[in-house]
Amino acid sequence: AIERTFSMIKPDATARNLTGAITQMLEEAGLRVVASKRVWMSKRQAEAFYAVHKDRPFFQELTEFMSSGPTVVQVLEGENAIARNREIMGATNPAEAAEGTIRKKFAKSIGENSVHGSDAPETAAEEIAFWFAGCEIVG
Ligand code: CMP
Repeated sequence: AIERTFSMIKPDATARNLTGAITQMLEEAGLRVVASKRVWMSKRQAEAFYAVHKDRPFFQELTEFMSSGPTVVQVLEGENAIARNREIMGATNPAEAAEGTIRKKFAKSIGENSVHGSDAPETAAEEIAFWFAGCEIVG
């Protein structure tokens, strides 16, 4: 089925001017960018967005990193978009990411791993609604 998922190009990647290169890999994987904007999130926004991880030992590091520079937030649309995006991103830890994936190619570490993508339909809907108004999504 045609789905939508939420994607972020993280500060380690925007710092290295990789927005275009990463977006091209998403597009070549069959995903369509139906919304996109560049944001510099506050620590508070990062904490709210990643609230599900608030009890994890890496929460401080994660939210500090995510508020350390610009991020590009996007909505991607396509056939099985959630799974497709996770496939093209590769494993969270770049050391475990498959050849040809975004994280294998660009990620620096498990924290500075260049991209985020929703893991399920419910989280995709929540994450899209966190960053985008309906009128900003143009399919
Ligand atoms: P992401 O898909 O954005 O969702 C949560 C993020 O937490 C994850 O990608 C990683 O970048 C980050 N993360 C997960 N595990 C660790 C860890 N052990 N140390 C630092 N960051 C982590």
